[in-house]
Amino acid sequence: MKLVFALGGSVIMPKEGPSLENIKKYAEVFKKIKDLKHDLCIVVGGGYTARNYISIAREFSNEAFCDEIGILSTRMNSMVLISALGDYSIKKVPENFKEAELMLNLNKIVVMGGTHPAHTTDAVAASLAEYIDADLLIIATNVDGVYNKDPNKYNDAKKIKTLTSKELLNITSSSSINAGSSSIVDPLASKIIDRAKLKTIVIKGTPEEILNSLSDRHNGTIILPGED
Ligand code: UTP
Repeated sequence: MKLVFALGGSVIMPKEGPSLENIKKYAEVFKKIKDLKHDLCIVVGGGYTARNYISIAREFSNEAFCDEIGILSTRMNSMVLISALGDYSIKKVPENFKEAELMLNLNKIVVMGGTHPAHTTDAVAASLAEYIDADLLIIATNVDGVYNKDPNKYNDAKKIKTLTSKELLNITSSSSINAGSSSIVDPLASKIIDRAKLKTIVIKGTPEEILNSLSDRHNGTIILPGED
């Protein structure tokens, strides 16, 4: 299968900062997936690195400039993962989809970050998945699926097992697009998932769930594309 992962920055680069053990675990799981003969792209988020830097720069600069800082953070996180992947990847973070596709055709794991301001790496991953005609987009994040309301704020929030891409659009349409803001799925990503009819799942980004996402054993949310 041709797979695109949106790997949340807060998953790979948690609040406590970078950890060798964490990066090793993710590199091993992605190598395992590659060994199963899948074509694999990973779009890495900026996580706390992005948010910390943006929160300072915002005192002085506009959102577009803060977005540029976010993009650099996503590329830095990508480079750390690339270094841990060794020969499975190429020591270069593609900055556009043509470059990414060329690397994929060399049978390497593609690891990239952001591209342009005003969206997140979820949107990059969805757009890349559309560009390369991926079979599956997997959004691996710090929440274990899509909820009817924010589970970090509401105790009675309920996880949704399956929803249509139109329903996802409704849930995400009110999310902010400010630099460093975080919602379960970026509103632009939701639009791309809907228009490209991308088969998508949202899972908790643990190494185990990432492996489970290749079968039906995951505990995340399935988004049914192109249905009302
Ligand atoms: P992320 O994709 O990491 O956003 O990009 P996020 O919502 O913080 O996701 P998690 O927490 O990592 O899962 C970080 C920031 O970088 C900028 C945006 O400001 C975004 O909020 N960015 C990223 C862009 O402007 N364009 C991109 O293509 C990617």
